[in-house]
Amino acid sequence: MQRFESYLATHLPKAPSFHPIYEEALAVMLLAGGKRFRPSLLLSIVDAYEPLLYEGALPIALAVEMFHTYSLIHDDLPAMDDADLRRGHETLHKRYDEVTAILVGDALNTDAFLRIAKAPLRDDVKLKLVTLLAQNGGSTGMVLGQALDCYFENIPLNLEQVKILHKNKTAKLIASSLQMGGVIVGLSLVVQKDLYDFGIDLGLLFQIQDDIIDETQTTEEAGKPTGNDGDKNSFVTLLGLAKSMEEADILAKDLQKRFEAFEPKLQSALEPLISKYLHRHKR
Ligand code: IPE
Ligand code: IPE
Ligand code: MG
Ligand code: MG
Ligand code: MG
Repeated sequence: MQRFESYLATHLPKAPSFHPIYEEALAVMLLAGGKRFRPSLLLSIVDAYEPLLYEGALPIALAVEMFHTYSLIHDDLPAMDDADLRRGHETLHKRYDEVTAILVGDALNTDAFLRIAKAPLRDDVKLKLVTLLAQNGGSTGMVLGQALDCYFENIPLNLEQVKILHKNKTAKLIASSLQMGGVIVGLSLVVQKDLYDFGIDLGLLFQIQDDIIDETQTTEEAGKPTGNDGDKNSFVTLLGLAKSMEEADILAKDLQKRFEAFEPKLQSALEPLISKYLHRHKR
């Protein structure tokens, strides 16, 4: 991911004006780091199948990371999770103000689509990429998940409903990152669907583990405030810690089986990125 990090550092949003901090604020959360899980998934598939397309895929990977970063900036706002820390740094509304955080989120969201539009890839491929990001990130994806999360804060949901919430707010963007990699290299529609479906359950596991992190890690370890999901419909709130870990293990074992059905090239591309999620139960 060295290449992604240097691409990101040299392709930060540029918006020069006489505003004293706006352009800097656009870049702060992108530069703050994070696991880069979604762009890594996308790029690892491109690297495995069509390394010559890696260059053209970098703006797409950055678009996905910009979109994800926008979702985090808005998630941390006082109206939502009211968090002071993100990726080990002060959140934007703390460092600057709420207006700046809202507008930087808006800008990263919109600009993500511009990055795809301008990428050096075929037009039909880019249309598919825009469609996937919009379908999975917008009103029928991440935003729906956040809406459910916030509306039902303090109102207990059942397990089925919490899974729907988690799939929308987290899993769809992870699943679409995998599929977008498949679209760029021209994998068959059947394999694209397998990747997407696998990504949905991987994303569900990812969010269960995020809920476990909220319960078990310190703020320093997580780089974001923890112990904050008490009023939320998190897995841990609903099932308790032990049962959530059990549920995560069951899901991880099922995912491992499905993973082994992928062709070897796909497996070796994704293994380094996802093994820590699939094998957590063995520790
Ligand atoms: C945090 O996402 C929000 C969730 C969907 C759980 P990540 O855990 O991928 O956050 P970063 O990108 O590493 O900061
Ligand atoms: C947010 O979920 C997922 C997003 C779509 C941003 P959380 O609220 O659990 O994410 P963290 O724990 O703040 O990273
Ligand atoms: Mg939240
Ligand atoms: Mg949050
Ligand atoms: Mg969380």
